[in-house]
Amino acid sequence: MNHEPKDKILSICADYGNQPDTLIEILHDVQVELGFLSTEALIQIADALNISRADIHGVVSFYDDFRREPTQGPTVKICRAEACQAVGGEDLAKHAKETAHTNIHDVYCLGNCALGPAVLIGDDLYGRVTPERLDALLKTKAAP
Ligand code: FES
Repeated sequence: MNHEPKDKILSICADYGNQPDTLIEILHDVQVELGFLSTEALIQIADALNISRADIHGVVSFYDDFRREPTQGPTVKICRAEACQAVGGEDLAKHAKETAHTNIHDVYCLGNCALGPAVLIGDDLYGRVTPERLDALLKTKAAP
């Protein structure tokens, strides 16, 4: 692991005051930043918060949201702003987070408000994305 992720991890922990009771928020932020929670990242977080490695492993393995391996496929950004929310954006985001094996991020407006729910997959913007369409798009993007 190079120094950049370590610095980022320590910075996230510091943003939360290195408080053990903010562990879940820290794990979420580190996962968003790095894409998954590596063993090295967990050790650094445990050291920064002064908690045991067993404790942190227990929390990570308890929650399905936390990934221990890098994900495959493109980064997906789903608009969670009002116009998209009004036409199914919330259901789409929930579906994506439960089923997609890729990095899913919430964003607030992709400038495609008239065609919500809007999704950015890699650099490609899509409108009127249903859960079924998202699945189909991700299959296409995952194809070699
Ligand atoms: S509100 Fe979703 S793209 Fe603007």
